[in-house]
Amino acid sequence: MRLLVTGGAGFIGSNFVRYMLGKYPDIEIVNYDKLTYAGNLDNLRDIESNPQYRFVQGDIADAAVIGPLIAKADAVVNFAAETHVDRSIHDPGGFIQTDVVGIYTILESAREHKAGKVVLVSTDEVYGSIEDGSFREQDRLDPSSPYSASKAGGELLALAYYKTFGLPVCITRGSNTYGPYQYPEKVIPLFITNALDNLPLPLYGDGLNVRDWLFVLDHCSAIEAVLHRGNPGEIYNIGGGNERTNIEITHAILDMLEKPRSLIRPVQDRPAHDRRYSVDCEKLVKLGWAPAQPFEEGLRLTVKWYVENQWWWRKLKSGEYLDYYKKQYARGFESTKGR
Ligand code: NAD
Ligand code: TYD
Repeated sequence: MRLLVTGGAGFIGSNFVRYMLGKYPDIEIVNYDKLTYAGNLDNLRDIESNPQYRFVQGDIADAAVIGPLIAKADAVVNFAAETHVDRSIHDPGGFIQTDVVGIYTILESAREHKAGKVVLVSTDEVYGSIEDGSFREQDRLDPSSPYSASKAGGELLALAYYKTFGLPVCITRGSNTYGPYQYPEKVIPLFITNALDNLPLPLYGDGLNVRDWLFVLDHCSAIEAVLHRGNPGEIYNIGGGNERTNIEITHAILDMLEKPRSLIRPVQDRPAHDRRYSVDCEKLVKLGWAPAQPFEEGLRLTVKWYVENQWWWRKLKSGEYLDYYKKQYARGFESTKGR
């Protein structure tokens, strides 16, 4: 199989490229990525000279470049996106450009070149928050942030391309993912790396928001199942089955690192902060998928990875990262001084 992976230099995409190369001896993968602040070729250093792998730098919204790559591929899996909710609140424009216009460009090119299959990696955040129970694929979309609204926009376009043009697209809605190579703006790597440096851990609101944590390789195996066995025009939820409050996650990280709880700094809540995410994965289980990684062990493994791979994340926490960090957290730290 000749697979085009878009956004393969980010967190989940790079894990997926490595996972697929390790599993399929005959696969050929082209990784097409713009290398935004979140894209990082260090994520794939160990496989960059693999003859079955090739990297091409570019934007998914650039039809002239992505079109010929789609024409040569048997299937496309898109990870490329602007992905961080807090950044989408500061600056929504880039999210609409990549997560909507970029997806439109992939869909148009796939239609023109009669692509075999297109898997769009989306998020459970498109449903919005749920107090009790779990969302199923047919439930109504009610996104809360510019990030999740843009992802919902891309999804709806894809479903329209399936209905109107018969384009064979599948959509996955994964839950919060964690593991090695996650950019240290997301809560788990942010809290691990801050704790290692004895910096405060900015916990939003009351810390009781719930996320369902999915280990990155379980997310990869779910996408693999949808790539091979997903029905065109269908949506598949992917959840880890590990619902935890943010304060539970924070305590677990501090305990694993033997750091004091006094590092926790309650800060102002995120606007429109979804209280709880939860998805029903029965449809994906019927495709033969099940998550394999127990959560506490996965978190321990992740903490260990950040402890042992400081070469990877220390250089990320500079320049643009620090500007963003100041913009995002300075006021929160100021207003809660002494709490
Ligand atoms: P990430 O932010 O780590 O990586 C995104 C990648 O996309 C980067 O390599 C970046 O350079 C690339 N990119 C961004 N804009 C691009 C463009 N216009 N053209 C080409 N490349 C571009 O993201 P991630 O956490 O790996 O998420 C991957 C996908 O999974 C996203 O679509 C996201 O919405 C979805 N998702 C993520 C999570 C999670 O918890 N991380 C959960 C569910 C779904
Ligand atoms: P995040 O990793 O940004 O993922 P998402 O918003 O896509 O779920 O956040 C996960 C949870 O952690 C979410 O409830 C917000 C919370 N959070 C904090 O409390 N402090 C932080 O600094 C960050 C980044 C997130």
